[in-house]
Amino acid sequence: IQSQALELIAAASDERSLDDARVSVLGKKGSLSLAGAAIKDVPKEEKAAFGQSLNAARTAITSALEEKQIALQEIADRAALAGIDPTLPGRSLPTGALHPLTQIRDEAIQILRRMGFALADGPEIEDEYHCFDALNTPADHPARNEKDTFYFNSGKLLRTHTSSVQIRTMETAAPPIRIIAPGSAYRRDEIDATHLSVFNQLEGLYVDTDVTLPDLKGTLEYFFREMFGTSTEVRFRPHFFPFTEPSFEIDVKLQIKGQAPRWIEVAGCGMVDPAVFESINATRKDNALCPESVTGFAFGMGLDRLAMIRWAIKDIRLLIENDTRFLSQFA
Ligand code: PHE
Repeated sequence: IQSQALELIAAASDERSLDDARVSVLGKKGSLSLAGAAIKDVPKEEKAAFGQSLNAARTAITSALEEKQIALQEIADRAALAGIDPTLPGRSLPTGALHPLTQIRDEAIQILRRMGFALADGPEIEDEYHCFDALNTPADHPARNEKDTFYFNSGKLLRTHTSSVQIRTMETAAPPIRIIAPGSAYRRDEIDATHLSVFNQLEGLYVDTDVTLPDLKGTLEYFFREMFGTSTEVRFRPHFFPFTEPSFEIDVKLQIKGQAPRWIEVAGCGMVDPAVFESINATRKDNALCPESVTGFAFGMGLDRLAMIRWAIKDIRLLIENDTRFLSQFA
């Protein structure tokens, strides 16, 4: 039985014939199983020897089956790999990465969150009250012109800055208020290398009972040094905004790759004009934003601009074209 079985196994040329061989020997009606059943007819004194030889045969057959199984598997593997070199490096798939604007925005948020600013937001489709009136911007101010602002027939408009979120926040929150609001803003600008009609700002507002100009300067100086390096020079240049008094534009002295160091404008800011508190306080019943009891500072920066400075990007349009040759540089 054993030598017959071993022959069968050796002759098996694939998994299937090996399986047939296994069944014909070890199966319920296989030769070895039948021989096992025949032990009852063997004379008593020979039973032990008979059993032993059956066991030996079973062991030999089982290990022959296993060996053959492995050998067949190897042959199958080699066939599957025919023409393939398993030592070649794998093909790498393109990996995604965050857009440079997203990277800058997240970084700015992180720095400001560490200083206790919480995220806030407001609608991009705004009304004149939140975008201009409540921000102390008179009806004849040039920013309100139809030439500069996208108006809907309904009288609504696309917000020209994120400063409207200052108003939205102060309408309901109570001091201390410390918020930042990243978001889109819209202006009817001619599109060129430095202007888009949709761009990205980050607004900040801090209102409490004793917020001072040094708080404003310290906060923003710290922010831009975190952003551009701890030794970065930051300067506050007097400016005008209807909703802050005094107002400043902030410049940082930077050396962009391949250029001489120079002052670059990065943000607008100022102490919240009491007229803004007044108009909001008039809409609240709790007198919580009475200009006699609170002061504050606000700032707004262009995130596209920060990204362009950080990576020496010469054309703002690259930021919205989604050209992978550009984007893959930020992976
Ligand atoms: N809203 C101003 C702008 O878009 C920036 C700014 C925000 C200035 C807050 C002062 C305070 O140019």
